[in-house]
Amino acid sequence: MEGIGGVVGDGVIGSYVDGLVGRGVVRSAGVERAFRAVRRDLFVERFWVGRDSAYEVGADGWSAEALGLVYADEALITRRDADGSPMSSASQPSVVAMMLEALDLEPGMRVLEIGAGTGYNAALMAEVVGDPRLVTTIDIDPDVVAQTRGLLARAGYGAVEVICGDGALGHAASAPFDRVVATVGCSDISWDWVEQMHPDGLLLVPLDHGGSHPLVKLRLGATGRMTGRIVGWTGFMRMRGDLETSGPWALRPPDVDGRAPDAVRPLFPALERALADSSPVTDTEAEWWRMPSAWYDFHFFACLCDRRAYRGPEGLGLVDDDGASAALIRRDGVRVWGGSGLYEELETAYGRWERLGAPELSLWEVEVVPRGAQSPEFVGSEEVFVVERGRSRQVVKARGRAERAAE
Ligand SMILES: C[S@@+](CC[C@H](N)C(=O)[O-])C[C@H]1O[C@@H](n2cnc3c(N)ncnc32)[C@H](O)[C@@H]1O
Repeated sequence: MEGIGGVVGDGVIGSYVDGLVGRGVVRSAGVERAFRAVRRDLFVERFWVGRDSAYEVGADGWSAEALGLVYADEALITRRDADGSPMSSASQPSVVAMMLEALDLEPGMRVLEIGAGTGYNAALMAEVVGDPRLVTTIDIDPDVVAQTRGLLARAGYGAVEVICGDGALGHAASAPFDRVVATVGCSDISWDWVEQMHPDGLLLVPLDHGGSHPLVKLRLGATGRMTGRIVGWTGFMRMRGDLETSGPWALRPPDVDGRAPDAVRPLFPALERALADSSPVTDTEAEWWRMPSAWYDFHFFACLCDRRAYRGPEGLGLVDDDGASAALIRRDGVRVWGGSGLYEELETAYGRWERLGAPELSLWEVEVVPRGAQSPEFVGSEEVFVVERGRSRQVVKARGRAERAAE
């Protein structure tokens, strides 16, 4: 297989895709075929991995080291702002694959993507639906759009419709869409997406939840409400533009730099058990983003209970508005600063989660209605939580394991 000014062997792509299949994130024949057909190296010209120095494609193509990163399970940051914060990227391949599988795409479907980025995902979707003309992708950044149009055309997907604008508005001119997918972290659901969707359509959104982005898969129910489930856990860069509001969470980092905790309490039992069953993490940087999955499950719940819920390099738990008091779970225990009040509240939230059966993310039922709409069947139930967002109200309800097994 010829590269642009270089050579990318079939073996490179082969082992990249085999890795995604082996990890269980690529599961269907259509998605696997797409990953084998689309060359990721054609969708980046310059990138960073983490805070490392930039890699740039030269006249002779990519260096072997850069190519190794392009075909690793790494997000490639392609644009940064003046402070170095990522503004655009090619998302991590395992997240791209998980989302493509969750979309249940079929040949002939019309798709809208919010967050064109490099165009790589748009090209993959074009392969799965069988025609680039069925894919519309939007990016808010005019430089990204200009570059992406060129990259898509060079890779053979020039018929993908690339729109420059705020994805919150969708793109009515190409509606109705069978699928709407956001590949950027959204603080809310845009009702334009719902209106531009086919009645049988599906919406897949990384929806902000305490600074992370659980992946919410929603369909339009008979009642006119969007209902669905959480199908994964992601961490995207945040959407800019009209939906650039902070959610209900304070996301206040603790002000504990250099201050030893007042106390370190034992881990809560289910979190301790999950930790014992998980593989050790030696890198302290990795500790906070590679948590055992039950820890993410609890964090999701803590965010439902308390807008002071926080997750960051210091741990996960609760942080007071002034930042001086915190109760944060880490592998070595629950670190407490500024009195035991927050610790007790965190413990209460944990007890409540445990009484509900320590539900995993996939056990939550999600309903999204326009803000102000009534959700009568849920009022007063203890197992139901409401997240008020700028435009919508999200109602989250735990489903029992037995209830789920009976389906
Ligand atoms: C993680 S990247 C998308 C990755 C992309 N799907 C790919 O395959 O490379 C997120 C993109 O969302 C874009 N973005 C941010 N806010 C947006 C908005 N309101 N509307 C459309 N795009 C937006 C950013 O400019 C960035 O390019």
